[in-house]
Order: sequence, then C-alpha cells, then structure tokens
Amino acid sequence: MAVIENAKLTIVGAGAVGAATAYASLIRGAARHVVLHDIDAARVEAEALDLAHGSLFTGSSTVTGSADVDATADSHVVVVTAGAPQRPGQTRLELIDTNARIFRTMMPRLVEASPGAVFVIVTNPCDVLTLLAQQQTGLPAERLFASGTVLDTSRLRWRLAERAGVAASSVHAHIVGEHGDTEFPLWSSATIGPVPLLEWDPLDRDPFTPDELDEIAQDVRTAAYRIIAGKGATNYAIGLSATRIVEAVLRDERAVLPVSTVLSDFRGLPEVALSVPSIVGSSGAFPIRETRFSDEEHALLHASAEAIRETADRVRD
Ligand code: LAC
Repeated sequence: MAVIENAKLTIVGAGAVGAATAYASLIRGAARHVVLHDIDAARVEAEALDLAHGSLFTGSSTVTGSADVDATADSHVVVVTAGAPQRPGQTRLELIDTNARIFRTMMPRLVEASPGAVFVIVTNPCDVLTLLAQQQTGLPAERLFASGTVLDTSRLRWRLAERAGVAASSVHAHIVGEHGDTEFPLWSSATIGPVPLLEWDPLDRDPFTPDELDEIAQDVRTAAYRIIAGKGATNYAIGLSATRIVEAVLRDERAVLPVSTVLSDFRGLPEVALSVPSIVGSSGAFPIRETRFSDEEHALLHASAEAIRETADRVRD
C-alpha cells in the first residue's frame, strides 16, 4: 500500500471528541477532506461551519458537516466517536449497553458507505466495541481497530518525560491492555533514549523507584476520571491521539502505536480486542507479536483481556 493523496477522512459524532478530532486534523493537515457526520443535523452543520471559518489559518483541507450517511461515502479513514459519553464516576465499561446498541445500527451503514476504509473506534468502551463491531461487520481485524491506549501512552510519556527531564518523544514506553481500569505500562521494555527506564540514573536526578512507578501508572489509569470530574469530558488529547493514528494510516507511516485490534493467537489470549504495540500504515494495524512481556506483565495482560471478554459476553447474552 502507499501514501493516500487527496484523502477523505470521516469523523462520526460531532460531540466534544469528534469536534476536537476534526480541529486537530485540520490544524495538522491530516487529510485533504474532512467530513463530520452526526445524526443531529443542526449540531453537525454548526460545528463544520465553525471549523470552516478557520480555513484561512489551516491550509488547504476542506471541512463539511452532514447528517446524511451518504456524505461519508468512499472515505479512506472513518473515525467513530459517536455514542454516550462517560459521566463523572462512571467506568468506560459501564457505557457498553447504550453504545453497543448505537453501534449495531450505525456500523453496517458506515461500512456499506466506505467498504474499503480503515475504521478507528474511539467511542468507549473502545476495546469491547471494536470486538463486537469486527464480528458484526466481518471486516479484517487490521482495518477496524480502536484508538486504545495511544492516549494513555501519551499521558505516560508526558509524566516520565517531565520527571526525567527529556522530550516525551525520547521516552519509549507503552501502556497496553484495555483502554480503561485494567491497563498497565510495559515497564520491563521501557527506555529513555537507549537506557532502560529501570536503570535511568542521571547525575542531577534520582532514579525512579518502584513505588513512584506504581504511582505514575495509577495516575495514568485514573487521568480521565479527574478530567471528567473537572470539565465533564476529555477531548483535546484524544482528538490529537485519533489524528495521530489517521496520519499514520494516510501517510502509510508504519508507525508503532498501541492501538487495539482483535487479536488471534496472541500469547494464549482469548479472542479479544486490546492494545499492544502495533505497526500502523495504510493497510491498517498489525500487532507486533515479538513484544516482550515479563511474567507479571503477561499475567496483567490476561487479566485485562478477561475484563474485556466478560463485558463483551454480557452484552451478547
Ligand atoms: C480518555 C477517554 C477518551 O481516556 O477515554 O480520555
């Protein structure tokens, strides 16, 4: 596959996350055409108009808004953000009943309109919805995946970068598993530049302690709860995360990002969608099978898969 010129990006859902994804995509020039789609015509047209009014400052991309699914036809990438949002105190998994219902009617229409697209699921619980949508639509696993822990990984790298006094892009560490309460960092393979994180010991700072790493992991895991309690939703960083995935696909970057695909025959896991470092390009996302897990990380990965699996089984019953 190759770099996609004149790419069409559809963003489904004109709420806080969909609008932030469209904004980030326009500012970063991620796609030539951005279509915002929502069943609320007044809202989606207003958001698209507001975004279009910034065209003078955002380069040559176009943006339109429509409540008609036909407007999404032949997209190269479809980012799905539509659904009920998390309320203060609510877990992502608790959204499954409402959002699985919305997905059941919405996904076949979107796939029918853009049968060759790469679908990126952002709506929560994104791992469970990816598993259900992949089974429902029959799309190849590499072409329907969730944003997963791309955002959580950015949160982690930001924290580690601040503490270590290096750029976030020089911290190589991943959050994997569920995008939710059972996610965890792969400390055993994390590095700062070429130095294993667990051996990081500069002259001017203290090394990381196990307690500190636990606290950082817990902070990342609970970050969205604090933001939702304060402002009702998270939107900017997830909008950037989704845009980063779109860029990797449309530019055929083959970038390593921890997106969530339906895994088959991966470390003895049941059939679930969860995040592991994956290669993302124009053909979609491919989990890196050689990713190393310590014994403890292996056990955590299985526990995370179990939480996703239980929720998926409950909604199918
Ligand atoms: C968050 C939402 C997107 O983690 O789940 O901010």
